[in-house]
Parts: sequence; C-alpha cells; structure tokens
Amino acid sequence: MIFETHAHYDDDAFAKDREELVSSLFLGKVGRIINVGASIASTKTTLNLAEQYENMYAAVGVHPSDVADLNEETFAWLREQTTHPKTVAVGEIGLDYYWDKEPEVQARQREWFMRQLTLAKESRLPVIIHSRDAAEDTMNILKEVGRWDICDMSDDEVCGVIHCFSYSPEMAREFVKMGYYIGVGGVVTFKNAKKLKETVEQIPLERILLETDCPYMAPEPHRGKRNESSYIPYVIEKIAELKHVTAEEVEHVTWENAMTLFSKGRGRE
Ligand code: NI
Repeated sequence: MIFETHAHYDDDAFAKDREELVSSLFLGKVGRIINVGASIASTKTTLNLAEQYENMYAAVGVHPSDVADLNEETFAWLREQTTHPKTVAVGEIGLDYYWDKEPEVQARQREWFMRQLTLAKESRLPVIIHSRDAAEDTMNILKEVGRWDICDMSDDEVCGVIHCFSYSPEMAREFVKMGYYIGVGGVVTFKNAKKLKETVEQIPLERILLETDCPYMAPEPHRGKRNESSYIPYVIEKIAELKHVTAEEVEHVTWENAMTLFSKGRGRE
C-alpha cells in the first residue's frame, strides 16, 4: 500500500469531483493520506476531510506565505486542533524566502515557524516542514528549537519531514543526520531534477517519504496537470531506478517510514 504523506484535497482544484476521487484512491493502492493544512481556513477544511474518511489524517498548521493569518487568537485555536483525534502532525510550517523577499515579512515567518515548532514539541507531534530558498535559516531554527526532542523521540531521533525537498544532497544528508525524513514527489521524475535525483541516491531509503503536494507537482507524464495520489507509482518507479531496488520495496519501506513517523505523536500504536 502507498502512504501519501502530503496532499491538499481540500483545494478548489478538487471541488467538482473530490468525493468520487478520494473514495476511488482508497479503493486502489493508496492506503493512507495525510491532508495538510496551510492556513487557518485550510486547517479547518483539512480536519473536515479527515473526519469523513477513515484512512485520511490531518496536519494542522500555517504555511510561511500565510502567516498573516496568525495572531494570538488563531494560534490558540490552532493549539486546540493538535488534540483532534485525526491530527497526526503540525504542518505545513516553515520558511519561504522565494515568495517573500522583505526582511520584516521574513522575520515574521521565522517567529511563527518557531512558535509552531514549539507547539509541535509541546503536543509531541512530528512536523511537516516547507522550506524554500531558506535552507540555512531553516536549519538554524531547527537546531535552536530542538532537534529530535521536538517529538520527544530521543529513542530513535525522528521528528519530521522536509517536504518537497529542493536543496542540495549535502543539505539532505545534514537534515537526515538531525533526524528528519526527506519528502519526495513528482519533481524527481522531471528531466532537469538533477539535484533531487542525487539526493535520492545519497540518502537511505529508510528516510524517504512519498508525497504528491497535489493539486501541484504532478509527475511525468502528467507534468503541468492536476496531481493526485494515484500518480505516486511514477515517483516510486523513479526512486526504485535510482536506488536499484524494486518498486515493491520502495512502496513497502516508505509505508513503514511514514507509519513510524506519524504514529508517534501522543503514543499512537
Ligand atoms: Ni503542500
């Protein structure tokens, strides 16, 4: 079974056929889906979706480009959602200096990244991290707020995933050393994705998670179209080729990886 660790099925792109599509995924090869909140509004819609489907879970959090959503009141609400029975992670949270170049905006991103990391730590939940053009600050903040102790996982040094990984293989190895997983999606199938292919070659399969980030980032041969979890086998094929293992092994190991990471919060399993 495929564990899809990063989807946005509450997105408007799925307005017309959401129910039909999600039900069909669970009848196929997709065993579990984490729908990921990115704003206060999408954290609400994410939780609604997770309540509807037994095998859909929720990540609650505010994306760096939406930190304008956050104030003491909304943050208190977010804190309450970490105890929702379907919540398995805090995310997606992080830094995005690609879209936001102003220093004051970036400072606000850092502040809310730290507060949401601390919230994850207090709630003993793993984190789903979005980081673009901000590798150094992301790394520094993770080191400052705490590494593997974020989820009180001092036994096996595991605490989150760097989703849609876009940095160098050297950075990936560093994040892995700190206890993080690396999220790999459609980009790995693109012809020009040299860095990500090298990253997959250089890190252990035991630290890779499968994800779509749908509706975005569709793999070849669907590049540019609306993405969905049933396209993950194209990503699996490519990872299998790069790691010289079978597709079945990639599917199996990444399933176990996701189960390990996302079942730790509050003593699940
Ligand atoms: Ni996302």
